[in-house]
Amino acid sequence: MTQTESIFLAALRKEKTSETPIWYMRQAGRYMPEYHAVRKNFKNFLDMCKRPEVCCELALQPINAFKLDTAILFSDILTIPDAIGLEVEFIEKQGPVFRNPIKSPEHIKNLAAFNVNDLEYVYQAVKLTKAALPKNTPIIGFAGSPWTLAAYSIEGKSSKDFEYTKKFIETYPDEVNKFLNYLTNACFLYLREQVKYGADAIQIFDSWANLLPSDKYFEYSYQYITKLTSMLKNDPTTSNTPIIVFTRDPRVEMNSLVYKNIDCLSLYTNSDIQQALLLKDKVAIQGNLDPKVLLEERSIIKAEAYKLLDAFKEYPGYIFNLGHGITPDIDPSKVKYLTDIIREY
Ligand code: CP3
Repeated sequence: MTQTESIFLAALRKEKTSETPIWYMRQAGRYMPEYHAVRKNFKNFLDMCKRPEVCCELALQPINAFKLDTAILFSDILTIPDAIGLEVEFIEKQGPVFRNPIKSPEHIKNLAAFNVNDLEYVYQAVKLTKAALPKNTPIIGFAGSPWTLAAYSIEGKSSKDFEYTKKFIETYPDEVNKFLNYLTNACFLYLREQVKYGADAIQIFDSWANLLPSDKYFEYSYQYITKLTSMLKNDPTTSNTPIIVFTRDPRVEMNSLVYKNIDCLSLYTNSDIQQALLLKDKVAIQGNLDPKVLLEERSIIKAEAYKLLDAFKEYPGYIFNLGHGITPDIDPSKVKYLTDIIREY
């Protein structure tokens, strides 16, 4: 079989597929006992990400367990901030903590040029994973959106409301735009390298889109995602690589999220399905089952999943996925059940 027979890639081309392709955001991770067996050997999560053979093993775990229609690179969106000297660490129960976050406009001015080769370990992980996957199973490469990376880099940690970041962008709009341009260029080079090493599709995670009211969203996030996707579509290495954008809980209308140059919109849990159906033939759609549904009993899981499949029955290019990542409290047998009943549909 060749790569072109992947139903996931066909759906990204907005083709009708014989079966609905399935994968899950955060399909590799803490809900799986196999993951913990590997994770316990590393104190700092990023140290584990720096081991390509370990990333390969982790990316394959959900493929082996559930026979999903695509793998996703095992890594994290915070590899870029780490590579530019912000010193990212993952601390138990706290999430990411930056030892050297962006604290001043001078820090932005003095950032060294992004060196794409500093993330060689990620490209090696793509290469190893791709080689280990079944031939018709593609691999998704990914990056955080420039805005989401900037928000973490300025806040220096996960936060509920990112108050410090919001103040920072009000105080230093020009420097923040400069930083967003810097990150856009870094994301472009990083994603291009992932494609060179075998990534078949790209997903951009705008996980902190919801921090910005609509006018600010266009200024600080949308603008840079658009820039990034045009750079990718205009480069000979990446021009044919499909692009998926995930926007978490956007404060703007879905219609305006159909960024120029994207192939697929990944819907958050609260997205309006009727609005999504209007995007037929414009973009492929991925999502948006609430991961919390996986905590319910089987009959509810089935009813909720089938609601989505019914809605998108005539939609060319529908990919089954969740509206956000699988959480650590989910029982893998429910993930298996969900996958099986979608296949039975
Ligand atoms: O199968 C996969 O999707 C695995 C690859 C992957 C990870 N992170 C592994 C990971 C991907 C695609 C990501 C993306 C990512 N990372 C996002 C965007 C997706 C989203 O959820 O919105 C974000 C915001 C991050 C940043 C991040 N990484 C945080 C905030 C945390 C800690 C809290 C949390 O949710 O786990 C991480 C850690 C992380 N990234 C883990 C994994 C498996 C858990 C680390 C551990 O085992 O301690």
